[in-house]
Amino acid sequence: MVMTLDDTKRMAIGMKLADMKALLELLISNEQKFISAVSDQDIADRFRDMLKDDQKNLGVLETVIIQYGVKSEPKETITQMVSKIDELMSGSELTIYEKVFQHELLKHQIVMSGLVVHKAAPEVGADVQAAITPLNTVNFEERAHQEQLKGVLEVLGVRELTGQEADQGLWARVQDAVAALTGVAGSVVTQTSDKSDMNLQDVIRMDHQKVNVLFMEINKTNDPQKRQEYFGQLYKDLNAHSRAEEEVAYPAVRGKYPDGDLKELYDEQAEMKVLMDQIRSMSPSSDEFLNAVNRLKDIVMDHVRQEESTYFGAIRDSFSSEESEQLATQFKAAKSRIQDEIASSMK
Ligand SMILES: [Fe+2]
Ligand SMILES: [Fe+2]
Repeated sequence: MVMTLDDTKRMAIGMKLADMKALLELLISNEQKFISAVSDQDIADRFRDMLKDDQKNLGVLETVIIQYGVKSEPKETITQMVSKIDELMSGSELTIYEKVFQHELLKHQIVMSGLVVHKAAPEVGADVQAAITPLNTVNFEERAHQEQLKGVLEVLGVRELTGQEADQGLWARVQDAVAALTGVAGSVVTQTSDKSDMNLQDVIRMDHQKVNVLFMEINKTNDPQKRQEYFGQLYKDLNAHSRAEEEVAYPAVRGKYPDGDLKELYDEQAEMKVLMDQIRSMSPSSDEFLNAVNRLKDIVMDHVRQEESTYFGAIRDSFSSEESEQLATQFKAAKSRIQDEIASSMK
């Protein structure tokens, strides 16, 4: 398949997401260090909470990257910056105030990267927007952390300069700032209140929605290059999704779901695969291409309906919510590995 201009844009967004992941891993490592480095319990507790949020945020970000479907390494300069800062955080050149100050700048950097990805997404495609929606929660939490860190910096800074404690009204002000942010962020916060992981049905449904958006995009545009780009993404997404289902999701219900229905799911996916490979060799400006895409769409939609009704029912009946969350983790790991295999086979 030919690289189009928008494939380049997709790669650039993939790289920004990889940058964010490298930054988040550094944030986590810093927070672990700060917990033992600070002397007062109140501040240590704040870092403990931040660490918990960031470990969850890393999970969200990894899900977004897999969902987005275009993986990249971080930018070279980001990798270098991360290792330089990590060195400073481990050493004794910087005071704790200076270390936390650096940390706050990193939070700012991750927030800005998240915002930029959000602003860029609609320029590339609705499917990109669909994939990155969960980034909202990461961004909101990092913004809230920034407000708390301003308070922490005041305490640490005053203490380093004077040996005295900062004024007592400080944490109330921090609380107000976070509350103001909550008001602005509105609906985003409701997502953050749910600390539990996604279950298998959530993860599969998210993939289905993205595929649906890609079919819409292919049909909406008359530009053959855009069609090619959207189909290229659909090809990778649908293949990775189907193979991960065959590895993790389908075997899980064997014996708990009628054999005939399960066989139907496998057969339909085999049919999709054949049709997708045929479409790959068609010209995106031809009627043949659009007709075949719409035939594929009908098969996929029918297949999705069965999965989201009877198959999901079997999952709900046979597994606890924790078990279904574990299946989601396995599903994402399989899909991530398969994405890498597909990417290297397409080079
Ligand atoms: Fe499927
Ligand atoms: Fe599916």
